[in-house]
Amino acid sequence: MTEFSKRLAALPGYPMAELPAIKRRLIQQGVDLIDVGAGDADFPPPRVAVAALTQAIQDPAMSRYPFQIGLPAFREAAAAYLKRRFGLTFDAFAELHPLLGSKEGIAHFAAAVLDPGDVAIVPDPGYAVYHGGTVLAGAEPYLYALTARTQFLLEMEEIPKDVVRRTKLVYLNYPNNPTAAVAPRDYLERTVEFCERHDILIAYDNPYCEITFDGYVAPSIFEIPGAREVAVEFHSLSKSFCMTGWRLGWAVGKRELIAAMAKVKNYVDTGAFLAVQAAGAAVLGDAEEIIRGYVAQFRERRDAMVPALAASGFDAEVPRATLYVWVPLPEGLGSGAFQRRAIEEAGVVVLPGSAFGPGAEGFFRVALTVGTARLREAAERLGKVLAAV
Ligand SMILES: Cc1ncc(COP(=O)(O)O)c(C=O)c1O
Repeated sequence: MTEFSKRLAALPGYPMAELPAIKRRLIQQGVDLIDVGAGDADFPPPRVAVAALTQAIQDPAMSRYPFQIGLPAFREAAAAYLKRRFGLTFDAFAELHPLLGSKEGIAHFAAAVLDPGDVAIVPDPGYAVYHGGTVLAGAEPYLYALTARTQFLLEMEEIPKDVVRRTKLVYLNYPNNPTAAVAPRDYLERTVEFCERHDILIAYDNPYCEITFDGYVAPSIFEIPGAREVAVEFHSLSKSFCMTGWRLGWAVGKRELIAAMAKVKNYVDTGAFLAVQAAGAAVLGDAEEIIRGYVAQFRERRDAMVPALAASGFDAEVPRATLYVWVPLPEGLGSGAFQRRAIEEAGVVVLPGSAFGPGAEGFFRVALTVGTARLREAAERLGKVLAAV
C-alpha cells in the first residue's frame, strides 16, 4: 500500500473539492440548482479581454514558453495600474511577478519563506490556501479566530509571545473572504509596525480591492509606512474582472521576496499563457472603466440579497466590499448540516462556515454570483430550509 506523505495527511479536506460532483448529480436529476457557493460570478469577461486574446493567439510567438519573465507588457500594465490606483511605484521586472492566478503565488510564497519549525498566522475563517500553503511548506499554521469581537480583524498583539517568537509569516486579507470585513488604516498601521518589530512577513492578499461599495476605497498595504520592508501583496484578475478561469494575477513587493518566490516557481510552473497575459495587459489598461461596470452590478445584487435574506429570517450585515454575504445561523445549527440540507432539499449551493476553518462554525457564505431574481429565489428557498430545521 502506498504510504502518502505526512504533509498530505496534514492537509485538511479542500472545501470546494466535492461540490462540482454533487452539483452534476443534482443537475442530472433535473434539480433547478442555484449556485451561490464559489466566488465565481456569471458576468462575461471584459470584451477587451476577449478581443486581445483573440488577436494575441494568432501570433505564434504567444504559443512559446512564457517562463517567469512572462509578457513584459503585462508586467508594465500591472505596474501602471498600481501607480494610477494607489500612487505606488514598483519596478515591473524586479518587484512584480506574474502569477497563474494569485492562489499559486500565495502557496508558493510560503515555500520560499517557511521552514519546518516556523509558524504562519492563519486567519480562521480564511481562504484555505493560507493553511494549505503553510502545511505544504512543512511549517506550522497558528489559527487566529476572526470574530465580531475584533470586527473580524487579525490582531497580532493577541498572539501568545512564544508563538510570535516562532512566527515568520502572517496572512492578511482585507477586504476579507469570507466575512467581507474591511481593514481601517490604523489597524494596518499597527499591524505593519508589529510585524516590522518582530521580523514577521506579511502576505497581503488583495483580490477584492476593487469590489467595494458606498464610497469605500480599499487600500494597498504598501500605502502604509514600513510595509515595503515586510509585505508581499497578491493581486488577481479573477474577481475584479470576472476572469476566474483565465488564471492570471501578480505578486508585488520587495525584490528579494519576489525573487525568492520566482525561484520556487521555476521548479513548478513555466508561466501563464502569453496570450492570456496579453489580454490581462489590455484589461488593466482599461481597469477603472471595466471595474465600474461590474461593481455597479454587484451592488445591485447585494442590495437585493441582504433584504431578501432578512425576509427569510437571516440577519446578515450589509457588506461594504467583496462579492460575499456572511450570514449567521441560529445558535446550535451546524453550518455543514445546513449546507447539505440547502443543497439536497432546496437546490441552493452555499458554502458552510466550516469550509473556511473551525472558527467559522455558525455562519454560511452566499456569493453574489447570479442575477437578482435568482438571488431572491435562493433566499426564499433558504428560508424554507431554516423554517424546517
Ligand atoms: C481571499 C482569496 N485569495 C485568493 C483567491 C484566489 O484567486 P485566484 O487564484 O483566482 O487569483 C481567492 C479566490 O477565491 C480568494 O478568495
